[in-house]
Amino acid sequence: MLANFHAFPRIPPDPIFGLQKRFIQDPRGHKVNLSVGVYKDSALQTPILTCVKEAEKQLLQQEETKNYLPIEGDPLFLQEVRKVLGTEELCAFQVLGGSGGLRLGAEMLYSLGERKIYVPKPTWLNHLGIFSQCGHQVFEYPYYDCMKKKVDFLAMKEFLHDLPPGSVFVVHVCCHNPTGADLSKREWEELSFLCAKNKLVPFFDAAYLGWDLGFEEDVFPLQLFIQERRDFLLTISFSKNCALYAERVGFFCLHGESLVIDHALSLGKQLIRRNYSNPPLHGARIVATILRTPFLRNLWKEELCCMRERIRYMRELFVQELIRHGKGDAGLLEKTGLFALLSLQKEQVENLIKQHAIYLTEDGRICFAGLTEEVIPTVVQAMCVL
Ligand code: LMR
Repeated sequence: MLANFHAFPRIPPDPIFGLQKRFIQDPRGHKVNLSVGVYKDSALQTPILTCVKEAEKQLLQQEETKNYLPIEGDPLFLQEVRKVLGTEELCAFQVLGGSGGLRLGAEMLYSLGERKIYVPKPTWLNHLGIFSQCGHQVFEYPYYDCMKKKVDFLAMKEFLHDLPPGSVFVVHVCCHNPTGADLSKREWEELSFLCAKNKLVPFFDAAYLGWDLGFEEDVFPLQLFIQERRDFLLTISFSKNCALYAERVGFFCLHGESLVIDHALSLGKQLIRRNYSNPPLHGARIVATILRTPFLRNLWKEELCCMRERIRYMRELFVQELIRHGKGDAGLLEKTGLFALLSLQKEQVENLIKQHAIYLTEDGRICFAGLTEEVIPTVVQAMCVL
């Protein structure tokens, strides 16, 4: 025997994608998938947006080479996202989806000697995995009050206030995953002030830009931190807002007064080169083409609006149905994005899967995209008899 490959441990399935597999294998015809955060239309399909198809047509005609991209990514893509943010003063990279940006950021922070990261409680399950995999100790800060069902900004501020200067904390820009509860404009302003006063560094996770009010509206917190010259890290995903999940289009950047862009760029490039060498072209070019072509950008805004409105409608119908069963929580209507966090125990979630073929993550998160007008009564009924 040359290698002891047998010693690889068997790792449990991913809490989100593992469920997806279980759902696909479930033979029951009435099954409902409320697990992975992927948009589906009323026929429960995840279509390719027309603006994407149109951009691809242009690329097919105009592209002349598939030569390697620079290590930091497609210059056109980086330029277009910089324009959205409204500044050139960034050290920017094209990365493999929003997760790729989290990973690169985690590695860059590690190389600065940063070993602790603070994430909101609760948060996207993979935050814990990505940062701990890179050697960080992950701590939770209070974010969502499960009793009052809203952001506990006071507790969040008090916690952050006591962190040592230079501490980095992850914060969701909008459509918080899993609760859908976001900071208000005034709270963002207060947070920006606190970051400056106590030298705290947010790591913005913008996986759902466009799913609250609109793409240009949802970048408000980022533009605020840029205008106020704050230090931050940022990862943006184009998976959801352009429905480009499998293309893995992400943007990562650092911003700050003390940032020597050339130095940060050189480190990021080394980390990327030693990891996957350089990024793929196709998805980033699609996004760049949409952003820089006025008619495609308008079409995209319309399509994004349609997706957002369907999800909003499902949220409203779901909440109305809950209310009809005397379990209503009108607070759910104030929240944004694809998700809601229901007060369900792990066992109740397992029961919904086993008894009713209704799939949701074990923390009680549901994704509204898996709902249709037809299934809402059955889903709510099953949840109410638990
Ligand atoms: C989710 O939270 O379901 C999505 O962001 C998909 C993923 O990568 O976990």
